[in-house]
Amino acid sequence: MKRHLVLVGLPGSGKTTVGCRVAELLGAPFTDLDDSVTTAASRPVTAIFSQLGEPAFRALERAAMDVALAAPPQVIAPGAGWAAQPDNLETAERAGAAIVYLRVMIAEAIRRIAGDGGRPLLAGHDTEATLRGLFAERERYYLRAALTVDADGPVHAVAETVALRARERAGW
Ligand code: S3P
Repeated sequence: MKRHLVLVGLPGSGKTTVGCRVAELLGAPFTDLDDSVTTAASRPVTAIFSQLGEPAFRALERAAMDVALAAPPQVIAPGAGWAAQPDNLETAERAGAAIVYLRVMIAEAIRRIAGDGGRPLLAGHDTEATLRGLFAERERYYLRAALTVDADGPVHAVAETVALRARERAGW
């Protein structure tokens, strides 16, 4: 039986770009959770953080994940903080999802997100120090994933590896 694939990892690990390509390879639907949240709140992520606050963002994110998990099996890319919120990983696992950790080196993540101002937790801060801090806090959650894939390479190669593992381990 096909299971949802939920991609976790740092900002810049490729959750959205790789996830989109994995979905194409598997012929699966794709949901980017930040997109679902911005649609629900009718404003960009940065505005949700500044106007409503992070707890409101996390509640919207949880609600969007519940909707995605209730849909037929698909590839789901939540934001990097989703996995570290209480009970989120457990909820996805209870729904039968296979969690996939896209593991990226900090230097590669920085290269990828350079110049992208849409990340409120990184904006206006020393990107490397902030990413290192997020990694230190969150890696233990990412490591609970059933599958870990090295995500430093090009999108197409990482996506092919994820799709292969999904066929072997998640019913695709
Ligand atoms: C966040 C990461 C973002 C977005 C929000 C919060 C985080 O997604 O969900 O800004 O907590 O690290 P990306 O992983 O796409 O940057």
